[in-house]
Amino acid sequence: VIYDSIIDAVGGTPLIRLARLTADLPADIYLKLESANPGGSHKARIALNMILTYEQYGVLSRGSGQTILEPTGGNTGMGIVMAAAVLGYRVVLVIPDNYSRAKQRLLRSFGAEIVLSDSNIGNNSHGELAAEIQAEHPEYVMLNQAFNPANPETHRRTTAIEILEDLGPGPLDWFVAGIGTGGHITGIGQVLKRSHPELTIVAVQPAGCELLHEKFVKHRIQGLAVGMIPPILDVGIIDEMSCVTEEDAIEAMLATMRTEGISVGVSTGANIAVARRIAAGCRPGSRILTIAYDSAADYVDLLEDEDTTSAGDGASASVTVSSRD
Ligand SMILES: Cc1ncc(COP(=O)(O)O)c(C=O)c1O
Repeated sequence: VIYDSIIDAVGGTPLIRLARLTADLPADIYLKLESANPGGSHKARIALNMILTYEQYGVLSRGSGQTILEPTGGNTGMGIVMAAAVLGYRVVLVIPDNYSRAKQRLLRSFGAEIVLSDSNIGNNSHGELAAEIQAEHPEYVMLNQAFNPANPETHRRTTAIEILEDLGPGPLDWFVAGIGTGGHITGIGQVLKRSHPELTIVAVQPAGCELLHEKFVKHRIQGLAVGMIPPILDVGIIDEMSCVTEEDAIEAMLATMRTEGISVGVSTGANIAVARRIAAGCRPGSRILTIAYDSAADYVDLLEDEDTTSAGDGASASVTVSSRD
């Protein structure tokens, strides 16, 4: 296939059965590899769809050089700068100052202006600062991923359909997913629940957070529990909440890299940690689906390698999380 631009190559990501990681477990874990998207995450899909939807509404005009403004931990920013380069927009991104510096550098290389928010004021510091910038610049167009229905709609129309096609017939017992904007758990979850009434949806959150009760603690599982119940989240599809410590997320991240050879980020590690926990205790032959949001490259500065040789052997790895605050 020859694509006319990088945005035409978004989506169509592979589904991988984690056969090695689950070798001793009675259930199968399937990983939807969203990190294989151009731009490296599931956010390429929603960034593109939010822009295309605003073009349809006449809010954005292709090639106009209008400014797109967005609070983002980095992944949505990557999707936006890619699409903006092709479609002709300027980009201003607001990122918490404790988020991946590698991502910030990369986004600047695409021509985006980066504004850092003070992470000490809370998990949603970037959202609050973006709202202030929007008030000063009413001509900027904020995509507002946590509020924009085009976000879950992308996952209903693309990600969920790809998953159903790849899984084929047969039951699907568990869907394990984190919550940032709530976009993918809502979009994928709604479609899967319609075709698989037997499905239990487990939402992953960092230990100490109680998202549904709006209790948030500071944590380093970037992309999850960003300090509010996102308006686009369909709370009704969540059957269970499951907490993961940073250490367990990183252990699962390293285990996936060492046994499956798949580079995954910390929030993906959190998903896999929960999926493994479920796999260890569920009915033999159960099928568990989870999502790989992005890859490890952006998080290497979070890993302080001590003795991690036991990761993947079932024993818990001794890993520390470096402090960047
Ligand atoms: C690395 C990472 N993981 C998970 C998520 C959560 O995805 P969603 O916004 O669809 O809830 C995000 C979203 O920002 C993310 O960047």
